[in-house]
Amino acid sequence: MTSDEMKEAAALAALDCIPDGAIVGVGTGSTVNFFIDALGGMRSRIAGALSSSRASTERMTRLGITVLDLNSVESIPVYVDGADEVTPQLHMIKGGGGALTGEKIVAAMSRTFVCIADEGKKKEVLGAFPLPVEVIPLARAHVAREMVALGGRPVLREGFVSDYGNVILDVHGLRIADPVELEGRINQIAGVVTNGIFARRPADLLLLGTRTGVVRTPA
Ligand code: 5RP
Repeated sequence: MTSDEMKEAAALAALDCIPDGAIVGVGTGSTVNFFIDALGGMRSRIAGALSSSRASTERMTRLGITVLDLNSVESIPVYVDGADEVTPQLHMIKGGGGALTGEKIVAAMSRTFVCIADEGKKKEVLGAFPLPVEVIPLARAHVAREMVALGGRPVLREGFVSDYGNVILDVHGLRIADPVELEGRINQIAGVVTNGIFARRPADLLLLGTRTGVVRTPA
């Protein structure tokens, strides 16, 4: 089974988590693209979607899914998104696709966060994947120095501008023993928009595509 097949299996399993008539939160990335494509086939059963990125909005619009304005909605029953790393506690690193800010906002508005991923994303400890940090351009060098002080090696994501006009520092070399603490600490640095640790609002359910089928955590 390829990693794409595992991603697709996890994405299709997430369809069972969508209540009829719901507004569905939709993440970003190659795993979520499988979910969006399947959601297009049941668009008449949902009230619409909240999107975490321009890329997902464009894909959903092409499929005829109604994408609602985030500011017109108070909360949503379910948010479906991928991850770059996910632990047994359902803490995640996200933002490999650069959509971490929109993802964090839609996740915060959701009552249930369903993480869909292939088995290669499952880690005991976060940090092998470089941590994305979205930064106001003016603060790039300052935030980079602060990340060095935290023990990381920040690398500017070349040629990338976020949906909100910001840059991303990918921070290598962090071994994230306390994700809740580090998420808060990085977000306190002046000029940081948000960082890709999703631990203060972790996933509620992980659907992990594996060679032997989709594994649910918690079971
Ligand atoms: C985008 C994300 C994605 O969820 C994460 O990068 C996983 O992507 P993929 O499903 O393509 O492996 O956080 O900002």
